[in-house]
Amino acid sequence: MGNFSAILIYFLIHIAGALAHWRYDRLIIDGQIVGEPYQYVRRSNNSNNPLDDLSSTDMRCNAGALSGKSTQTLAVPAGAEIGFAIAKHFGHPGPQQVYLSKAPGAAADYDGSGGWARIYSLTTAPANSSISAKYERSNATSQTLKWASRRMDSFRFTLPASTPPGEYLLRAEGIALHAAHKNASAQFYVSCAQIKLTGNGDGIIGPLVQIPGWYQANDPGILLPTAWERLTTYSTPGPPLWPESSQEQHVVRSL
Ligand SMILES: *[C@@H]1O[C@H](CO)[C@@H](O)[C@H](O)[C@H]1NC(C)=O
Ligand SMILES: *[C@@H]1O[C@H](CO)[C@@H](O)[C@H](O)[C@H]1NC(C)=O
Ligand SMILES: *[C@@H]1O[C@H](CO)[C@@H](O)[C@H](O)[C@H]1NC(C)=O
Ligand SMILES: *[C@@H]1O[C@H](CO)[C@@H](O)[C@H](O)[C@H]1NC(C)=O
Repeated sequence: MGNFSAILIYFLIHIAGALAHWRYDRLIIDGQIVGEPYQYVRRSNNSNNPLDDLSSTDMRCNAGALSGKSTQTLAVPAGAEIGFAIAKHFGHPGPQQVYLSKAPGAAADYDGSGGWARIYSLTTAPANSSISAKYERSNATSQTLKWASRRMDSFRFTLPASTPPGEYLLRAEGIALHAAHKNASAQFYVSCAQIKLTGNGDGIIGPLVQIPGWYQANDPGILLPTAWERLTTYSTPGPPLWPESSQEQHVVRSL
């Protein structure tokens, strides 16, 4: 192979990979994007690179985002519909989840070292979904799983109405599974928004987990038994959803 071809192939592989990456950078309230990119979502120092070290505190809000001093906090009523808008889109197969953690004081001063509850999970799409099972560079069949967030650029969900008032970190977590049949090769995309919940919710949030510590390298949803193209069942990682009656979602509510 000539040098030029080698360089071209290197370039194509790396650029194509980076283009499939994404960042959560804006909030959505009641069907409208609010604010500028990173006005209410902490900016990382990580461009759009994925994380893979489950033992790192970067897994909370991303690299360089343990402080929120330069991020504003958005007031939202508990029970509201909220969501994340994404630059550019979810370019890899896998679930999208949201975790919530109450700050002891101001969200801007909170490093996410307290407990986190899992409040939203968007996983596989129904078998009859019009989403194609055949993704680029894959040999998926009609039996293999489809992913509800595939190529979407936003998702919305409801903030539980019983959430007590106060300031919180709202953490988006996307897990890319395209290499997750190899150890420590699930890719994590995470970001934290800062919100101030209003209302008079009196629920007790939980079960709570610590990040890091919330997932283990060999959890079934992190280390796959086979390449994602061949998966026919998937078990989403994380503690039970809160509130207790919440279900995993299989259809995205996008903008
Ligand atoms: C990003 O922040 C992390 C701390 O989370 C730090 O260790 C790292 O050096 C920073 N990287 C850059 C490129 O500034
Ligand atoms: C898929 O199946 C579900 C459950 O049977 C049904 O409610 C839904 O309308 C179907 N969707 C399509 C696109 O056929
Ligand atoms: C895709 O198909 C090729 C050629 O048949 C095969 O070598 C490869 O193992 C398949 N990949 C997966 C993940 O099944
Ligand atoms: C899997 O990766 C984790 C994290 O890097 C490591 O601690 C563990 O030893 C690895 N397990 C195997 C079987 O390689």
